[in-house]
Amino acid sequence: MLAAACGGDDEVVRRDEPLRVLGAERDLRIGTAVDDVALTDDPRYEPLLAREVDMVVAENAMKWSSVQPERGVFDFEAADRLVDFAGRHGMAVRGHTLLWHRSVPDWVADAQWGRDEAVEVLREHITTVVGRYRGRVEQWDVVNEPIARDGDGLEANPWLRMIGPDHVALAFEFARDADPTAELYLNDFDGSFPGERTERVVELAEQLASAGTAIDGVGIQFHVLGRPDELDADAVVDVFDRIGAAGLDAAVTEADVRLELGAEGRPDDDQLHTQADLYEELLRGCLRAVNCDTFVMWGLTDRWSWVPGQFEGFGAATLFDDDYRPKPAHERLQLVLS
Ligand code: G3I
Repeated sequence: MLAAACGGDDEVVRRDEPLRVLGAERDLRIGTAVDDVALTDDPRYEPLLAREVDMVVAENAMKWSSVQPERGVFDFEAADRLVDFAGRHGMAVRGHTLLWHRSVPDWVADAQWGRDEAVEVLREHITTVVGRYRGRVEQWDVVNEPIARDGDGLEANPWLRMIGPDHVALAFEFARDADPTAELYLNDFDGSFPGERTERVVELAEQLASAGTAIDGVGIQFHVLGRPDELDADAVVDVFDRIGAAGLDAAVTEADVRLELGAEGRPDDDQLHTQADLYEELLRGCLRAVNCDTFVMWGLTDRWSWVPGQFEGFGAATLFDDDYRPKPAHERLQLVLS
C-alpha cells in the first residue's frame, strides 16, 4: 500500500483531482456502468459521472431484452440516451452486451429454430445494434460470461443450443463486420480470482485468438467480495500478461468491492480501509500490465449500486456513498494515480 499522502521526500502526495484527469495522464480510461434510471431521475448523478469518468458502459440499456424485446422490434431509447450523454462529456463508450445467457427475452429463450435461422437472428441483432453505434462505441462486450457456472465448458444459452459452440466466434464475426473500428471483448468473472474459472476464460480466449476469431480483448469483471488480501496486483498482472501473450488486450470491466453492512446499515472503518486496499490492488494491476488501459467500475455511487438488491445485507461497493460523498477508496485511487 502506498504511503499516506504528506510532504515527505519518498511519499506520494495525493492530488485531489477527478480520476478521469489523473487517469488520462497515464493513458488510462476510468469508467463506470451507468444506471439509465439514475441518469434521468437523479440530478446529482450526471455531474458526478461527468467529473470523475471518461468511459461509460450501459448497465442494462444495451442488453438483448432491452434493445430487442420482441423479434424485429428494436428499442434504443435508453441506449441512445447513454451514448448521447457520453458524447456531451467527451466519454468513450463500452457496449454491453451482445450475447449473454441472461437478459434474454422469451421469444429467444423459448425459440426452437434450426441452426440457419438462429444464425440469422443472431446476425441481425448484432448487425443492427453494433451498426447503430458504429464509430461511437470504443469497446463491445460481444460475449459475456460464456464459461459455464461450474467452469466446465460453455454456459447453456439459446445460441449454444440452436447453433452450437461456434456461436461465440460467429458473434465476434458479426460484430467485426458491423463496426471494424470497435475493439471486441470476451467478458467474464471469477468469484475467487485467479481461480479455475479464470483458467477457463484465458483458455477460451487463447483458442479464439489462435483460430483467427475477430477478438481484441478480454474483460475480467472483478466483482470483489471485500475480504482482506482477496486479490493482489501481482495476480492481476499475471493473468493480464497471459492474455497479452495471446495477442489480446485486457480490461477491468466491472470492478466493485461489496461490504457486509453492520446493524446501522453501513460498513465500519476497517472494512472501508480493506475496500480501498482492494481497489488499489486492482488499479495497480491494470497500470502495471502492459495491455490494460481500461479500468471500469460497476457503479460509482452506492445510491445506485446493484449490490444491495442482489446480496442481502451487503452494499457500499463503490467509490462514493449513498450521499455522493467520496469514500477512502476514491482517495486511494487518486493517490495511486497521483
Ligand atoms: O427495468 C425493469 C423494471 O421496469 C422492473 O420494474 C424491475 C422489476 O422487475 O426490473 C427492471 O429490470 C431489472 C434491471 O436490472 C434494471 O434494474 C432486471 O429485472 C434485473 O434483472 C436487472 O439486473 C441487472 C443484471 O445485470 C441482469 O441484467 C443488474 O442491474 C446489473 O447490475 C447486472 O449487471 C451484470 C452485468 O450485466 C454482467 N456481469 C455481472 C453484473 C452483475 O450481475
